[in-house]
Amino acid sequence: MRVLSVASECAPLVKTGGLADVAGALPGALAPLGVEMRTLLPGYPAVIAALEGAEPVWAGEAPGLGAGRILSGRAAGLDLMVLEAPQHFDRAGGPYLGPDGTDWPDNPERFAALSRAAGIIVDGEGGGWQPDIVHCHDWQAGLAPYHIARAGHVVPTVMTIHNIAFQGLAPAAKLTALRIDKADFTREGVEYWGQVSALKAGLVFADHLTTVSPGYARELMTPDFGMGLDGVLRARADALSGILNGIDETVWDPATDTEIKRYRTPRGKAPNTARLRAEFGLRDAAGPLCVVVSRLTEQKGLDLLLEALPALLDRGGQLALLGAGDPGLEHAFTALAGPDVGVRIGYDEALSHRMIAGGDAILVPSRFEPCGLTQLYGLKYGTLPVVALTGGLADTVIPATPAGLARPVATGLQFHPVTAQALADALIRLCELYARPELWSKLQRNAMAHPVGWDGSAAEYAALYERLVRSR
Ligand code: ADP
Ligand code: GLC
Repeated sequence: MRVLSVASECAPLVKTGGLADVAGALPGALAPLGVEMRTLLPGYPAVIAALEGAEPVWAGEAPGLGAGRILSGRAAGLDLMVLEAPQHFDRAGGPYLGPDGTDWPDNPERFAALSRAAGIIVDGEGGGWQPDIVHCHDWQAGLAPYHIARAGHVVPTVMTIHNIAFQGLAPAAKLTALRIDKADFTREGVEYWGQVSALKAGLVFADHLTTVSPGYARELMTPDFGMGLDGVLRARADALSGILNGIDETVWDPATDTEIKRYRTPRGKAPNTARLRAEFGLRDAAGPLCVVVSRLTEQKGLDLLLEALPALLDRGGQLALLGAGDPGLEHAFTALAGPDVGVRIGYDEALSHRMIAGGDAILVPSRFEPCGLTQLYGLKYGTLPVVALTGGLADTVIPATPAGLARPVATGLQFHPVTAQALADALIRLCELYARPELWSKLQRNAMAHPVGWDGSAAEYAALYERLVRSR
């Protein structure tokens, strides 16, 4: 089974969030199941620089792409196809934002080109490598199912929603530039309130849709979470499934992590906690050291934490936060820094490992969360997750309710509704549990034993690919 995975980021080469982790881990998780996955990525400078043994499999000019080459090669242990198109990707800044922090105005064209490249590979230009399935991630790959379907190909396509908040909108004036037929600019097609939506194109034209947790799959079909696309998803309910993300246990495992003082039992966390306090300039404390590693955006609900924080600090708890994003949130957290609150604004992969290892608890108060990975790291490292009862967070944390505590299953705390008050109550409960060392270490052991790897979910993807290929 050969699968072309189409993604706009892929760890460890280029990452802004969990999509990169998933795109980077899937090929390795699927290989033992007989799935050969190659990943099609934009030729950002970092990707081109890392590429080894690059061979051009296609060079030319195509409508909706412009001039470019598709290179086949390897980087960071991954088999890649890379769209080398300097006019789109050879730029300073991040994958989506310029150095000034705003979206590149031609993002619709840039990622339409990536989707076009997927179509070109399916057309037989993959250097002799022909995918049986094309698996597209988020809006940046949303036009690939469209191009593949409209070209009359029979290769099945899967569209995975990692985050429906990003819909790939472009003005109708860009239809030709994006190589979309005017006849498809309808409500049943790619039109979304007068604009083109690349995500909607994927949702309408892919053979199967997935998202990254069963809970979020259900939520997506409701107006509260569907962000205007819930109707489209309800219409395709039979083709939508939720497959939970795993974490890459070759990167995230306290027993082998080279960034930390390694441990196999909760007791081994103590030196990491001491080191983390020192690193953030925090004093010793009687309460739990809570950590946050997150993009600072509306989605993540960290404004609620600003309000709820006194409940933690008043009980001897502490906070160490690593994140970047919304300037208002950056300033608000920075202003709180002191002996009980440590703040690092920025992106730091190594520090994130030390925080997950050293924290007693990890806070994820998201308003919506398709899956979430940091609570899974928390479980694996015995760092108890305190999460909002939503999406993948609800699916992955077993709450320390009386029922959860009665049996050896509880792994963390959940709160609902997603308000500052409910979060504050959860933080108070956290401090109460922390004050009962036997119970606390039982929770930590439950958390560390909870399966968070890719095995089960990789098998679900493999079964889905099989089913789609067979039904053709
Ligand atoms: P999302 O994709 O919505 O940002 P996830 O929880 O799925 O949320 O994935 C976020 C990923 O990005 C995790 O691997 C997390 O550790 C990482 N991350 C987020 N912010 C930072 C940061 N400031 N520094 C280091 N890693 C970060
Ligand atoms: C998105 C979601 C996050 C998910 C990640 C990987 O960025 O916000 O919940 O874990 O994609 O699927």
